[in-house]
Amino acid sequence: MIKDQVLSILLDAKKEYVSGEAMAEKLGVSRMAVNKAVAQLREEGIDIMAVPKKGYFLGSDDVFNEVSVLRYLDPEVKLFFHNAVEGSTNDVAKRIELDYKKPFVVVTDHQTGGRGRLGRRFESPSGGLYFSLCLPREYLTKAGLITTAAAVAIAETLKDISGLEFSIKWVNDVYLAGKKCTGILTEGVVDLELGGLEAAIIGIGINVNTKEDELISLYGKATGLFIETGKVFNRAEILGLAVSKVMAVLKEDFLPRYRKLCFLLGHGIERRAKDGTAREGIVSGIDDEGYLVISYPDGSEEHFSSAEVTISLNDGEQNYILNTF
Ligand code: BTN
Repeated sequence: MIKDQVLSILLDAKKEYVSGEAMAEKLGVSRMAVNKAVAQLREEGIDIMAVPKKGYFLGSDDVFNEVSVLRYLDPEVKLFFHNAVEGSTNDVAKRIELDYKKPFVVVTDHQTGGRGRLGRRFESPSGGLYFSLCLPREYLTKAGLITTAAAVAIAETLKDISGLEFSIKWVNDVYLAGKKCTGILTEGVVDLELGGLEAAIIGIGINVNTKEDELISLYGKATGLFIETGKVFNRAEILGLAVSKVMAVLKEDFLPRYRKLCFLLGHGIERRAKDGTAREGIVSGIDDEGYLVISYPDGSEEHFSSAEVTISLNDGEQNYILNTF
């Protein structure tokens, strides 16, 4: 499509001017056809600026559509791009009629039913990056460690892109400046004939260019790249890098990196059980299964596979609480 080719030329030019004539010549089409393509792209919401006698250029660093995403995505991964998703990208991924033999990713700018851990809602306004990467069994590590690997991959990708420091709140929240900026929800596709995991759907939501007022319900708890820097980031690039990184990290020795990134280690923590009992301990490690290890003053320790750490502020001091189920 001429429209996609025009967009590719403008993306290649970064923010330099390209004249309509040069584009027409390059594509072997008329000036009229280029004008029409520019009008169509603008209708789709792409900010194309025009200066007489100089030409066109892209007004935004964040062109986020199928054409821009394909420029960065590993060609091995099939793309399903949606401007918007009614519901959740994880659910869209589950409904895709593929046989789960090849990696694919469902991507959107916003979703109405973003899902988080523990049946919670995940706020997913426009400007964020929401995707579900479906990986067949041979790409995966142990089921319980898939989210752990993805958290390392996202923290490292976002650092590479922005130069900012990210950390991880066990088990799956990536933090920036003391607040959550990414959530990860991994769901399995079970092979009913052979038993075991056939594929995993790794759902990742990152507050990239999200504005602060759109996360109002999470005020004080959530942040994002734009909120912290005032800079607009290229979501297509982040997606491409993140997908490749998740696939790479799953094959690597990622637990030492996870331990370094996990900011809970060494902190005092109150472990609260469902029956209301509480015990004071210290977060002493992440074991080889990715479980959180709490050590108690009497020398005993407990390993938790799934629980939730909450952080509360008391007289300016952070208190860590582990709610076990
Ligand atoms: C959490 O923080 O509890 C996990 C949030 C996971 C959100 C992502 S956004 C893409 C994918 N689609 C969803 O509905 N959830 C995940």
